[in-house]
Amino acid sequence: MNSYYKKDEWLIIEEGFHPEMNRESESIFSIGNGYMGQRANFEEQYSGDSLQGSYVAGVYYPDKTRVGWWKNGYPEYFTKVLNAPNWIGIDISVNGKAVDLATARIISFSRILNMKEGYLERSFKVTVLRNKTIEINTRRFLSMAEPDLGIIRYSVKFVDFAGMLDFTVYIDADVRNEDTNYGKKFWKEVSREVTAGSGVLTTRTMKTDFHVATGMCFELQRNKKTVPVNPDIINREKYIANTFIVSVKTGEEWVLYKYVSVLSSLNNPKGRLADDIKLRLKEVKAKGYNKLFLDHVKEWGKIWATSDVVIEGDLSAQQAIRFNIFHLNQTYTGKDERLNIGPKGFTGEKYGGSTYWDTEAFGLPFFLKTADQKVGRNLLLYRYKHLEKSIVNAEKLGFKNGAALYPMVTMNGEECHNEWEITFEEIHRNGAIAYAVYNYIRHTGDEDYMADYGLEVLIGISRFWSQRATFSENLKKHVILGVTGPNEYENNVNNNWYTNLLAVWTLSYTLKNIEILEKENPEKLNAVFRKTNFSYPGETARWSDLINNMHFPVDKKRKVFLQQDGFLDKELIQASTIPSVERPINQHWSWDRILRSCFIKQADVLHGLYFFENQFDTETIKRNFDFYEPLTVHESSLSACIHSIVASRIGNIEKAYELYLRTARLDLDDYNKEVSDGLHITSMAGTWLAIVEGFGGMRILDGKIQLNPLIPVNWQSYSFHARFRGVLFEVKVTKDNVIVINLSEKPLQLIISGRDHQLKGSKKLVLKLKVD
Ligand code: BGC
Repeated sequence: MNSYYKKDEWLIIEEGFHPEMNRESESIFSIGNGYMGQRANFEEQYSGDSLQGSYVAGVYYPDKTRVGWWKNGYPEYFTKVLNAPNWIGIDISVNGKAVDLATARIISFSRILNMKEGYLERSFKVTVLRNKTIEINTRRFLSMAEPDLGIIRYSVKFVDFAGMLDFTVYIDADVRNEDTNYGKKFWKEVSREVTAGSGVLTTRTMKTDFHVATGMCFELQRNKKTVPVNPDIINREKYIANTFIVSVKTGEEWVLYKYVSVLSSLNNPKGRLADDIKLRLKEVKAKGYNKLFLDHVKEWGKIWATSDVVIEGDLSAQQAIRFNIFHLNQTYTGKDERLNIGPKGFTGEKYGGSTYWDTEAFGLPFFLKTADQKVGRNLLLYRYKHLEKSIVNAEKLGFKNGAALYPMVTMNGEECHNEWEITFEEIHRNGAIAYAVYNYIRHTGDEDYMADYGLEVLIGISRFWSQRATFSENLKKHVILGVTGPNEYENNVNNNWYTNLLAVWTLSYTLKNIEILEKENPEKLNAVFRKTNFSYPGETARWSDLINNMHFPVDKKRKVFLQQDGFLDKELIQASTIPSVERPINQHWSWDRILRSCFIKQADVLHGLYFFENQFDTETIKRNFDFYEPLTVHESSLSACIHSIVASRIGNIEKAYELYLRTARLDLDDYNKEVSDGLHITSMAGTWLAIVEGFGGMRILDGKIQLNPLIPVNWQSYSFHARFRGVLFEVKVTKDNVIVINLSEKPLQLIISGRDHQLKGSKKLVLKLKVD
C-alpha cells in the first residue's frame, strides 16, 4: 500500500514536493470548522496541477442535469457545493520574479497537518533566481472559536541575499467549479470595496442567490515588529488586492498576517453583509493572531477531550484514527440544523457536498457517541424539516397519500442526483432515516422525540414501503422490485434482502411506537394522526400483512441470505483472484462487466446483519460473513468498516484488524485511488465505529451499554470516550483488562462480557479481559 505520508501520533507529514501528488495532498491537508473548509492549496500562485477549493457550508448551486435520454421523474439539477471566493491568496515576487512552486528550484518542502491544534503548516526553501534562496513558512487555520474567520501567518526570509520582496494580498471571486455541467461560473459580483489595508468583496450565487461577503485585512512585521505599509490598490471585477514592495535584508524574517472573515446570507441579512464584515475585521485585528490562535486551539482541546482514541503499540492505526476524528469534526459541528455531512465534507467537489444516507447510517452514530445530544438531534431535525419535500419527491414518482421518499442526494430536501439506477433506485436510504430515529432515541433516551417529530417521519416512510411493495402471485409473498441495494455494483434488482428487511423493520417499528403512544400519550398521538391524515387502524392492516409475508431470498443449501433474487445465477469467484492491476474494478472494467460479475462494492446483506444483529445468531452472521466477504471488493469507502465490525462480532479479530486498517487508512494510503477528488468523510465515522462497536463490542441493550471487547494482537491497549444518555465515560482495553471510568456524576449501567455492572459517577471499574 502507498504510504506516502510520514507516520506520527498527532501529525500528518508530507516531505518533499511531488507535483503529481499535489491534488491528493490538497485533500489530505484540508482544514475546516463546520462552517467553511479549505483544500490545502497554496497561498502564492501555483501554475502546476491543483484543484482549487474553498467551500462555505450550505452555499450551493443547482446545476442543470445532463443526461442522454431524459425520463419522467429525473431531478432537474445536480447540486454543487460551490468553490467559493478564494480567500487565501498571497502572491509574492522576489526582485520581480514570481514565486511559483511549479517553476522554482525546490531545496526542501514540507506540509504538516497538526490535528491536535487544528492547523496546516507549509515550509519550503527554494531558489527563484540564480543563487538566491528564500525560505517560506506558512500556517493557517479556520477558527473553531469564531467560525467565520480564516487566518494565515505567512513568513518569508531571504537566506543568502538582500533584495526586494513584493506582496499581493487578495481575494478573488472569479473562481469556477471543475465539475460544472455547462462550463458556467456560478458567482456574480454584488459589491466590492478596497482600501489600503483591507477590503470586502460581496458575491452572490446564480439561481440560489446566496450572498457571501469575504473580507480581509492584514498586518506586516519585520523581525516581530509591525511595519506600516502603503500599498497600491487593485480593484477590478470580482477581485480586490493590496500590493506593496519591501526591501529585505539577508536573514530578516518578514511575516504577513492575513485575517479573513466570511459571512453569508444563511446567517446574516443580505443588505448588511459588507458592513458586518468591516466590523468583524476591526474586532479581529484588535485581537491579533496569537489570541485568535489560542482560542482556536482551546476549542480543539475540548473536542479531543471527549472524542480522542488512544492506541498503544500501533502508530499507523493511531495516526489514522485521529485523522478520521479530526476530519469529522472539521466537517460538522452540529450547530445548525440546516447543515449536514457531505460524503467529502469540505475537501473536494465530488458528491456535491450533499447529504446522502451516509449521514444516518454512519455519521449519526459517531456524533451520538462523541458530541452533545443536540448535535445528533440537529441531524434528525434536518430530515424532519425535509418531510414535506420527501412527500413531494414520492408524488413525482407516482406515490400518494403522504408517502415519503427521502432523496438519495440532497441539499434542501429535493432530490438532486441524476443517475437513475445507481442512485434513485437506492430506496434503502428511507430505511436508514427511519433507523436513525430509533438510534437517536435509544442513545439519548429522548423519548419525547418520537411524538414530537419522529413518528411523522416514520409514518411517511412506512406509507412509502406499503405502496412500494407489491404482491407476487407466483411466490405468494410481498416483493419489492426494481431497486438498487447498498451494493451499487448491482442495479435494478428484485428483492434486495437488505431493503426488504429495512422495509419490514420500519413498518414494525412504526406500529410498535403507535401502540406505545396509544397507551402513554394518546393526545399527542392523535395530533400526529390529524397532522398526517392517518387512518388507524385502517392503514396499518396492510402493514401487518407485509410484515408477516415479505419475501426474503435465501440460499437453502448454504443457509445464507441472498443479496437479491437470482444472485446465485452468478459465477461465484473470489475477489482475491482479480489481478491487482485491474483494481479498483470501477476504474478498469466496463460497467456491463461489473454488473454481470458477482463482485460486491460494499456491505449489503452484511449491513443488514449489522443493523439488526439481535435478530440473528452468531452462526448465521458468521456463515453470511464467510460467504460475502470473499466476494467483496470494498470499492466504496463505506464497506470495510461494516465488514470490520461484523468480523469483530463473530470473533475474527485478524480479519477485523485487516479491515480496520483498510477503513482507517483508506485516504492516507489512498486504497481506492481517488483521494485527489477529496476525502471520504462519512466513512471516517465508520472507522471510529470499527473500534468502538467492533473491537470494543459496544452495543445498547435494554437501555444499557454493553461491551464485549477484543484487542488486536499487535496493540498494547486502546481507549476511547463515549456518551450515553448524559453520561460521558472512557473505556480502556489492555491485553489483560477492561477499564471503564465514569467521567460524569450520573451512574452508568453496563453489561460487560455478559455480566451486569453499575458504575457510579466518577468511579472506575477494572475487570479481567475475557478471552474465548
Ligand atoms: C456509495 C454510496 C454512498 C455514496 C456517497 C457511493 O460510492 O456506494 O453508498 O452513499 O458513495 O458516499
